[in-house]
Amino acid sequence: MAASLQFNFKPVFLTKSSTNHAAKFATIRCSASPPSKSYTITLLPGDGIGPEVISVAKNALQLVASLEGIKFKFNEMPMGGAALDLTGVPLPEETLLSAKQSDAVLLGAIGGYKWDNNEKHLKPETGLLQLREGLKVFANLRPATVLPQLVDASTLKKEVAEGVDLMVVRELTGGIYFGKPRGFSTNENGDELGFNTEVYAAHEIDRIARVAFETARKRRGKLCSVDKANVLEASMLWRKRVTSLASEYPDVELSHMYVDNAAMQLVRNPKQFDTIVTNNIFGDILSDEASMITGSIGMLPSASLGESGPGLFEPIHGSAPDIAGQDKANPLATVLSAAMLLKYGLGEEKAALRIEAAVLDTLNRGFRTGDIHSAGLNLVGCKEMGEQVLKSIDSSVPAAV
Ligand code: IPM
Ligand code: MG
Repeated sequence: MAASLQFNFKPVFLTKSSTNHAAKFATIRCSASPPSKSYTITLLPGDGIGPEVISVAKNALQLVASLEGIKFKFNEMPMGGAALDLTGVPLPEETLLSAKQSDAVLLGAIGGYKWDNNEKHLKPETGLLQLREGLKVFANLRPATVLPQLVDASTLKKEVAEGVDLMVVRELTGGIYFGKPRGFSTNENGDELGFNTEVYAAHEIDRIARVAFETARKRRGKLCSVDKANVLEASMLWRKRVTSLASEYPDVELSHMYVDNAAMQLVRNPKQFDTIVTNNIFGDILSDEASMITGSIGMLPSASLGESGPGLFEPIHGSAPDIAGQDKANPLATVLSAAMLLKYGLGEEKAALRIEAAVLDTLNRGFRTGDIHSAGLNLVGCKEMGEQVLKSIDSSVPAAV
């Protein structure tokens, strides 16, 4: 990314009316505010292990900021179950406003047993969907990379897992998660019904497909679109639109795969994938599956981006209520989400590389939380892992990624 853009542009991700989408994508969110490079970050710790992992990521951000001459103003706001307990709703207006007005949003995790039986509009998960919708972050990037240091933590055979490096581009603000009609009713036999609608408009498919083509172009040039076009109309339109865009990206090799086959191929031969693009629900499922190839869901970050405005960055794991408050959580997915925030959210590539390199260095030095621990390595808790990452950032290890 051209450095000059970083200081001259408001957050830009994709511009709908643009014909030169490649150029637009190349200016991803260069939201630096000249000349002091000072950013406002909304922190949403949420529930369960959320506050523990956010605290580690915040420290890492603060440290790289001091090394890179960046200033952060953190706004910590309630969200999810924490917000329900405090205000009665899972996404208070103030939280959404703070998120919208900031340069980027970093979320821990939401949800927990306590709120599991709440009515739908009072579930923590509803707050997360409202946040994604409110920020219009339709493009969810979920990288799954098997780090050499963690190859033994994968449940797959070493030769299958080794070298996997893929990116799931998940559509995030459409499909069955948001489609109408939805709800509960009763049919003519008096049988209770629950129903949802899988629906995509052409423009929703086109914009996520463009993000995916651009992503693939910057990776290894292979894009696999995953759908269920043998059964679902929404998928038939999906395949038609993705196919018709392919001519604009002659350098990207496009393939299509049905979702059931993709689920199988991910564990059979995951190295065949580079970039995967798929709808909201298939992306939810396949990204969890992909995470397990890497050894632990506790390692995987994500970025959710829109056409403009702040991005939302969060680990793909949940709130893990079973280990919450016990200093057992792996903070690295959130730390790596902070790196994605720096890179995709603020265009602060160097600061992002510092964090990524520090994570690798910490792993190289043998520190492991329980989820990625194996014999002979140093088992540590969430806080200690955070301290070790800070130590690695401090020693300014060169970027090895
Ligand atoms: C995810 C989560 C969410 C989703 C839940 C918590 C609503 O599983 O981010 O993958 O389904 O999108
Ligand atoms: Mg999920």
